[in-house]
Amino acid sequence: QQSWVLMVTAQTPTNIAVIKYWGKRDETLILPVNDSISVTLDPNHLCTTTTVSVSPSFQQDRMWLNGKEISLSGGRFQSCLREIRARACDVEDSKKGVKISKEDWSKLHVHIASYNNFPTAAGLASSAAGFACLVYALGKLMNVKEDESQLSAIARQGSGSACRSLFGGFVKWIMGKEENGSDSLAVQLADEKHWDDLVIVIAVVSSRQKETSSTSGMRETVETSLLLQHRAKEIVPKRILQMEEAIRNRDFASFSQLTCTDSNQFHAVCLDTSPPIFYMNDTSHRIISIAEKWNRSEESPQVAYTFDAGPNAVLIARNRKAATLLIQRLLYYFPPNSDDLDSYIIGDKSLAKD
Ligand code: PMV
Repeated sequence: QQSWVLMVTAQTPTNIAVIKYWGKRDETLILPVNDSISVTLDPNHLCTTTTVSVSPSFQQDRMWLNGKEISLSGGRFQSCLREIRARACDVEDSKKGVKISKEDWSKLHVHIASYNNFPTAAGLASSAAGFACLVYALGKLMNVKEDESQLSAIARQGSGSACRSLFGGFVKWIMGKEENGSDSLAVQLADEKHWDDLVIVIAVVSSRQKETSSTSGMRETVETSLLLQHRAKEIVPKRILQMEEAIRNRDFASFSQLTCTDSNQFHAVCLDTSPPIFYMNDTSHRIISIAEKWNRSEESPQVAYTFDAGPNAVLIARNRKAATLLIQRLLYYFPPNSDDLDSYIIGDKSLAKD
C-alpha cells in the first residue's frame, strides 16, 4: 500500500469591481453581458487560503470551507476540477519517491481545505477569492502549464468575478465573443505598483449572508430589466474605455466619478428588476451621502465608493491623507460601538501569488 501525500497551499485576495459585471449571457459557462474592471485587494485583509492535497489513499474528492465539509457535487466545482484535470501534466517528487503521470490524475482524488479571513457570501466577493485560489492551487498541484489568463477562464466557470482575482492591481474581464467561452478571460491592465497611493477602506455594514445570491439576482435582472440591456450595450463599452484611461493616467477625479456612477447604476439595475432587488440599506445610503458631500466640498474628489451584492461599502481613498480623513469622518458618523456598522477593514491593493 503506497502512502504519500502531495500538498500545495495558495493564497488569493478578493477583488472589487469598479465597473461591474451583472448579467450572464450563458449561465453554465458563466459568460457575461459586458466587460468589467476590478481592483485586487490587499491579501492581508480579504483573502482565501487554500490547501489542496492528493494521495492514493483518498477515496473521493472532498472539500472543507472554514473547517466545515461542503459538497463538491455542484456544477461549478465540477467544471473547475474537470478543466484542471484535463490539463494536468506529469509530476515527480523524488524526495517522496512519487511519480504521477498525466493519465494518473483522472484516477486520483483531491482533498481541499479553504479558509476565508472575512465574512463569506456577504457581498465581499468571497467566491471570487475562493474559486481563483482553488483553480490556482489545483493548477500548481497538477503541474498545469497554462498562464494566468488561461487559468482565469477556468476560474470564471466557478464564479464569474473569480477570473479577475488571478492577477494583482487593475484587471479587466473581457466578455469575449466565442460561444464556448474560450476568449472570456481576465487580463491585467496595470500591476499593483502602478497606482500605489490608493488606500482601500471597507465599512462592513453587515457581515450577514446576503438575501439574494448574485446568481439568482442576475438571472432575474436579465429576464426583466430593460435598463440592463441599455447599460450593457450603450453605457459599459464607453465606460470601460474611460476607466482604462483614468487608470493609465492615475486620474483620480475620473476614476472616482466612473466608479461611483457605475456602482449606482448597478444598484439601479437591481431596482429595475422585477421583483426589485435591494442590496444596499440605509447605512449604505448614508455612507454614499457622506462621500458625495465630502467630494463636493473639496476642489477634487478624495474618495470613490462602490457596493457589490450587499450593503458593505468599499471606499477607495486617493492617498493616505485622504484615507485618514475618511476614517475620521466615518468614525464621527459611525462610532466604534455603533449599531449601524459591524467593523472596518483597512488595506492597500496588491496581490501575493502563492
Ligand atoms: O461572480 P459573482 O457571481 O459573485 O458576481 C459578482 C457580481 C458583483 O460582485 C456584484 C459585481 C462584480 O463585477 O464583481
